[in-house]
Amino acid sequence: MTQKQSLRILILGGTGLTGPHQVRYAAARGHQVTVFNRGRTQPVDWPAGVEHLTGDRLTGQLDALRGRDWDVCIDNPTTLPSWVRDAGQVLAGHVSHYIFISTISVYANLEQPPNESSRLASYGGPDVYAETMDTLRASGMQLYGPLKVACEQEARRQFGDATTIIRPGLIVGTGDQTDRFTYWPLRLARGGEVLAPGTPDDPVQVIDAHDLAEWTIRVAEQRITGTFNATGPAKTLRFGDMLRAIDPAAQLTWVPADFLAQQGVKPWSDMPAWVPPQGEMGGMMRADVSRAVAAGLTFRPIAQTARDALDWFRSQPAERQAQPRAGLSAAREAEVLQAWRVRP
Ligand SMILES: NC(=O)c1ccc[n+]([C@@H]2O[C@H](COP(=O)([O-])OP(=O)(O)OC[C@H]3O[C@@H](n4cnc5c(N)ncnc54)[C@H](OP(=O)(O)O)[C@@H]3O)[C@@H](O)[C@H]2O)c1
Repeated sequence: MTQKQSLRILILGGTGLTGPHQVRYAAARGHQVTVFNRGRTQPVDWPAGVEHLTGDRLTGQLDALRGRDWDVCIDNPTTLPSWVRDAGQVLAGHVSHYIFISTISVYANLEQPPNESSRLASYGGPDVYAETMDTLRASGMQLYGPLKVACEQEARRQFGDATTIIRPGLIVGTGDQTDRFTYWPLRLARGGEVLAPGTPDDPVQVIDAHDLAEWTIRVAEQRITGTFNATGPAKTLRFGDMLRAIDPAAQLTWVPADFLAQQGVKPWSDMPAWVPPQGEMGGMMRADVSRAVAAGLTFRPIAQTARDALDWFRSQPAERQAQPRAGLSAAREAEVLQAWRVRP
């Protein structure tokens, strides 16, 4: 244990992508960890001594938290302001520090690289507390950024200066159920000619779930408050360098953004973790992370993240592995490569 004091840490949502890494790191550093969730997500093999409380934030069922005190609460899964309000009603005065996991998608304009002072998206609906997971989904996730902004504001309302806001970029690696980064190590491992998007110089930012989780625990230990973009690495990573780090021998064919657009190949969903550096999302992969780095955010090498992601994916059930959740199918990739080869 390297920190001075053992903390009582409450982790809301400890079984998703980042929670398990927080739990393991915190327990290894001698903290007393309590997790709170519905108990629906696949149970995690916790270290000894981790306390598990159940409840449901959708229905405001938070009784298990009442009358208890913790040094810090980390709120992982929340996109609805009513969840923050309800947590505040039970926990304000019972936790000394509240860490809210927000998102880089809070910024109103991602054409330019955002820093923490960039303009935020605003909610234009009738009642922010009336929004539900259903209305969020029905918006095609258009409400995601504005609701996260409203959550941040609610967090400050409930917990004041004892609030930390962490705004991650794309969270990747072990446990990532979206396969948005994992597509690349998987695709490179398959071999053959690989469709690579845009140019090798296009910037890319991701954050390994371990790095995010471990830094969050260190933020708790040092009681760092304020607002932080949290993606990485510290210096610009180029897409070509990322793919070469994953497989130096990969046979890459770079296809420009405009040709991909003509072919109907979409950034982000079809070519995961990639957005063209020009255009309305052009600044998304160039967020300023200097504040978080100054506050101790560190990054493992991208090759290690890729190995971990691949190992984790290959440990999943066969039916899950048969249905990757992001990126082009092999057949579609071959079609696009062929179209590129025979272009006029
Ligand atoms: N993924 C990304 O690339 C990305 C990027 C930027 C920001 N973010 C943000 O980062 C956070 C990531 O969270 P995560 O992926 O670690 O977890 P998550 O998938 O958002 O949340 C899952 C956790 O929350 C619990 N949970 C879900 N619904 C609940 C409810 N109604 N009541 C109580 N507990 C509930 C789940 O357990 P049960 O199912 O058992 O309840 C599980 O422990 C989110 O806030 C997300 O917006 C994500």
